[in-house]
Amino acid sequence: MNRAAVLAGLGTWLPENVVTNDELARRLDTSDEWIRTRTGIRQRHVIGPGQSTGDLAVEAGRRALKSAGTDQADMVMVATSTPDRPCPATAPDVASRLGLTGVPAFDIAAVCTGFVYALGMAAAVIGSGTAGSVLVIGADTFSTILDPEDRTTRAVFGDGAGAVLLRPGDPGEPGALGGLDLGSDGSRSELIEVPAGGSRQKASGRSAEETGAYFTMQGRAVFSEAVRRMATSVETAADRLDWAPGDIDRVVLHQANARILAAVADRMGLPADRFVSNIGRVGNTVAASIPLALADGVIEGALRPGQRVVLGGFGGGLTWGAMGLRWPDISPV
Ligand code: UT7
Repeated sequence: MNRAAVLAGLGTWLPENVVTNDELARRLDTSDEWIRTRTGIRQRHVIGPGQSTGDLAVEAGRRALKSAGTDQADMVMVATSTPDRPCPATAPDVASRLGLTGVPAFDIAAVCTGFVYALGMAAAVIGSGTAGSVLVIGADTFSTILDPEDRTTRAVFGDGAGAVLLRPGDPGEPGALGGLDLGSDGSRSELIEVPAGGSRQKASGRSAEETGAYFTMQGRAVFSEAVRRMATSVETAADRLDWAPGDIDRVVLHQANARILAAVADRMGLPADRFVSNIGRVGNTVAASIPLALADGVIEGALRPGQRVVLGGFGGGLTWGAMGLRWPDISPV
């Protein structure tokens, strides 16, 4: 019998510190009105001194395990583009801090598609019998790589973490992941990048501004790619599950911009209210975005057991991907 990866637990964590649009407007040439109308974002959470991506990942991971009623996992994947250090990966440290020393643990770097990539890899690992349960965590702290003077990226990004525990199960049961679609286009990598800090361009010895160690994004070009790629990927995943687009009850996309969600809905010919959104409260939290939206979707009653749900992401690389499931009866912690 085929083994599927089944969603068994969901946990999230946001840093305490909230930065509102008005607070940003006091320091930068922007306004609450511009940010709300161009992005739908009202506020974002930002880590404080001494906090890191790994700290958020540990808290979200702990909650996902609690939500699943266990303290065990056979593998830990952390999707992140803001690891605690360039080397080693953040996941082994996170695993140990969760009491899981000894299990395989590694990072996955696919920027805003990182969580969907990690879900896909976890489903393959579980499906092949390589591991039993897999803890998949999406965590990012883009506040640590933004140019403090860049009003556009400062308005958009927030920090956070979300996690799911996947267990082996039957492909037909609620929570079973399926329909995986993943893709990339490295010829357009310059649209979303941190130019320095890797082997091509070192970042040491001078300021982040001089060395190109800040995050950069060509917003307009990214916007149209995001709409096209996410709409196609969601349709592909649905098709692989034998669902017509109209059969999808809820779409949970990477929360990059409320206008992107509306444009994807329009392109797919689906009502906008089928698209779960929490971007107003958290902004674009990169790899944490989809699990944070899932948890808020459950809490607000938009996601209910039995619904056909498709998750979709798009981000730097460029990368994109989607997967579907019938929503299970789980309570986020
Ligand atoms: O998460 C991974 C994938 N990322 C995405 O999908 C992001 C996709 N892109 C976007 O969401 C949007 O492109 C942004 C929100 C990043 C930018 O919104 P936009 O409507 O595309 O604005 P723009 O960059 O085209 O800029 C329009 C104007 C410019 O002024 P001029 O040149 O027309 O005078 C900008 O300088 O808005 C200005 N602007 C701002 N004004 C006030 C840009 N940022 C701000 C700001 N406050 N924060």
